[in-house]
Amino acid sequence: MPLSSRSTLTQYLIEERRRFPEAGGALNALILDVALACKAIARAVAFGELGDAMGDAGAASVQGGAVNVQGEEQKKLDVLSNEVFLRRNEWSGCLAGMASEEMAAPYQIPAEHLRGHYLLVFDPLDGSSNIDVNVSVGSIFSILRAPQDVIDSGRDVVEADFLQPGTAQVAAGYALYGPTTMFMLSVGNGVAGFTLNPNLGEFMLTHRDVRVPEDTREFAINASNARFWEPPVKRYVDECLAGATGPRGKDFNMRWIASMVAEAHRILMRGGVFMYPRDTKDAGKPGRLRLLYEANPVGFLIEQAGGRASTGRQAVLGVAPSSLHQRIGLVFGSKHEVERIERYHREPPPRELRNPLFSERSLFRD
Ligand code: AHG
Ligand code: MN
Ligand code: MN
Repeated sequence: MPLSSRSTLTQYLIEERRRFPEAGGALNALILDVALACKAIARAVAFGELGDAMGDAGAASVQGGAVNVQGEEQKKLDVLSNEVFLRRNEWSGCLAGMASEEMAAPYQIPAEHLRGHYLLVFDPLDGSSNIDVNVSVGSIFSILRAPQDVIDSGRDVVEADFLQPGTAQVAAGYALYGPTTMFMLSVGNGVAGFTLNPNLGEFMLTHRDVRVPEDTREFAINASNARFWEPPVKRYVDECLAGATGPRGKDFNMRWIASMVAEAHRILMRGGVFMYPRDTKDAGKPGRLRLLYEANPVGFLIEQAGGRASTGRQAVLGVAPSSLHQRIGLVFGSKHEVERIERYHREPPPRELRNPLFSERSLFRD
């Protein structure tokens, strides 16, 4: 398609806003600032070892250490990406506050700037354990409305202001720093995909009305956790692995990038199912991924594209958050597969997966 006939991200946002004649321009301005932050991070990622941003974060990081609030190792690029998000978004008057994977507490808009109506929550760099091996990483963001009393009073934000269910998201999206840089966005009217034109520095609309196919033969899970899986997950994966000769009667393919944003993108493009379910590995961590800045924004995009996002037990977007950095089990992707996994969580496990003490030959036969 010739360049002259493609929409830019700006044009898409202006056209979307026409659906809401009463809306001010703040949401669009905010999304464009997020997109600019993503373009800056894309450049830092693209320079790799040629830049000065590879490797582990040192003592000079924003945290004053190389471990973030979740006890995870911070890469230099985690810290840099976090800074880029803060600087690009704090000045505009659109935001009442921000929260990030890399910061223990909410970020206050500095006194010299105006405060606005929205909250921005983000994972500045997802998949950063892959950054040193040149595998796709990305940035994930979620936009919420600030509570009315925050807007009215202009007070500092507190953790509780961010504890809104995923259904309350006004917009969400991610940037993917892959072979091309892409920006995937939903403002609650389907999902649109934009590809960065590096000559213009503009995100161009390349994927209108993205839809996740309802059926799939592809699944993604970290199988090294198999011994910690709950029976419904074990049943589902066993059935996929059994392929054409098993109960599913068809062969499945498996993928694991260990970069959720890249998995989400594959699933938005061609379907599939992703699982990082609740497991028994660490009683203190009910799942690996974070609800507010990983599960909710990705869940919002997937559902806006006709897929489903679940904890295994309920729609992830319906979960009432209890803390800023809360972790949760996450299953998302092609609708029929996610519904099947949810059904396995409701149904009693098939006989062969039940506790051996209660199996056919047992004295404790049920
Ligand atoms: P982050 O880099 O923001 O900490 O997130 C990494 C997440 C996610 O991207 C990925 O799916 C998962 O961690 C990978 O976990 P494993 O290392 O357990 O496979
Ligand atoms: Mn992440
Ligand atoms: Mn991250």
